[in-house]
Amino acid sequence: MDFLEEIFLTQQDIAETIKKLGGEITRDYQGKDLLLVSILKGSIIFLADLMKEIKLNNCEVEFMYVSSYVGTKNSGGKVNVLKDLNTDIKGYDVLIVEDILESGYTLNHVTNMLKSRNPKSLKICTFLDKPQARKVPIEADYVGKVIPDKFVIGYGMDYNEKYRNLPFVGVLDGKYK
Ligand code: PRP
Repeated sequence: MDFLEEIFLTQQDIAETIKKLGGEITRDYQGKDLLLVSILKGSIIFLADLMKEIKLNNCEVEFMYVSSYVGTKNSGGKVNVLKDLNTDIKGYDVLIVEDILESGYTLNHVTNMLKSRNPKSLKICTFLDKPQARKVPIEADYVGKVIPDKFVIGYGMDYNEKYRNLPFVGVLDGKYK
């Protein structure tokens, strides 16, 4: 795979990380009305794997389609909500499910939107956290892995919409950007 600088997380690393997150969420949301809000498109594979590790009956899932990148790797801070939720989240214990937290613009926008709709609680679960890229002060409640400031692809994450289908997380080689 000459387009990769390195494989950052193998399928096994990912499976272990998700098992751990699923266990924490299962423990913390006992007896609650959990609504997972998946932020499309990047979180699709993470959501699918994570929800299988959440061993609760009271678990629902909804989707928002939010986009902040304009084709390339630099987030401009402008967040577009391309598809909003279909349901009223009032009374739900909402857990936002994201693939990656970088500048924080996306999750800042989404949490402000959702808070105003009066959920019972609102928390964030992100598969990857890149704190060095943060532009607004926002932190996730559940973090799979903290990563350095590298451009990662695969496992739902793209470069110009490509590479989302890789089953692992890799770092794209500079000459392909
Ligand atoms: C990516 C990623 C997060 C966001 C993180 O989404 O999936 O939602 O950027 O970056 P931030 O913390 O700097 O806002 P993107 O807007 O590329 O859309 P996608 O999920 O469809 O790839």
